[in-house]
Amino acid sequence: MSTSTPTSTTAIIPTRTDPIISTPTHLVRPLTLQDLPSLTSSLNDHSITRWMTDRVPFPYTISSARDFYDFLRTQDPLTSYSIVDRESGNVVGGLGLKTTPSDIHRRTVELGYWLSSSSQGQGVMSTLVPLFLHWTFQTFPSELVNRVEAHVYSGNRSSMRVLQKCGFREEGVLRGKVWKEGKVLDLHVWGLLREEYEVEGGVGEAEVR
Ligand SMILES: CC(C)(COP(=O)(O)OP(=O)(O)OC[C@H]1O[C@@H](n2cnc3c(N)ncnc32)[C@H](O)[C@@H]1OP(=O)(O)O)[C@@H](O)C(=O)NCCC(=O)NCCS
Repeated sequence: MSTSTPTSTTAIIPTRTDPIISTPTHLVRPLTLQDLPSLTSSLNDHSITRWMTDRVPFPYTISSARDFYDFLRTQDPLTSYSIVDRESGNVVGGLGLKTTPSDIHRRTVELGYWLSSSSQGQGVMSTLVPLFLHWTFQTFPSELVNRVEAHVYSGNRSSMRVLQKCGFREEGVLRGKVWKEGKVLDLHVWGLLREEYEVEGGVGEAEVR
């Protein structure tokens, strides 16, 4: 996906304030400037950042959050969203796609997500990922997204379980691929093809805006 996105697709990219997903407990919507303190407070947690790439530093400061916000202002189409707890209004997680704009991988996007420690273990991500996949496959045509993949470090069992429950297949293990915090780790590659998603039936429209 790239800025050379066909105009027909650009027309259906949501505005930068509307939620793309709404559940009884959470919204998935673009990050705003007002969100930066709650984003910082949720993400400044080593039990989360240890499983993420080095683009998410630890400690995670208000300046890290501001850098991320500034990056998002340039992202077109916007593919990184915040998970907001409806009751508190706080950012409690993130859900997004990393795109590869050129060459042979251009129809593959990489799914990434995280959730604050206090929100984990309640089925939140297992609920939101299928809705986000629905949004992804509906928003971007097959010329832009044919495959969604996720990269998980060895040992991250809850993340792999979420992917398994959401229809992804574990396709392989890239041995010693990751250098994270002074350790070599294996990288587990999980994938879901558009055709598999469509055969499985996806999710109901009602829950996706
Ligand atoms: C991965 C993460 C997003 C999961 O979110 P979540 O909302 O807590 O996940 P859910 O509650 O929907 O589901 C978690 C599943 O993992 C299972 N699980 C949790 N810990 C587990 C473990 N140690 N071993 C095996 N399964 C485990 C849960 O039982 C649940 O499966 P179930 O519904 O069959 O019981 C969250 O833990 C997180 O943000 N982790 C840190 C950041 C991260 O790892 N991001 C992903 C990088 S690839």
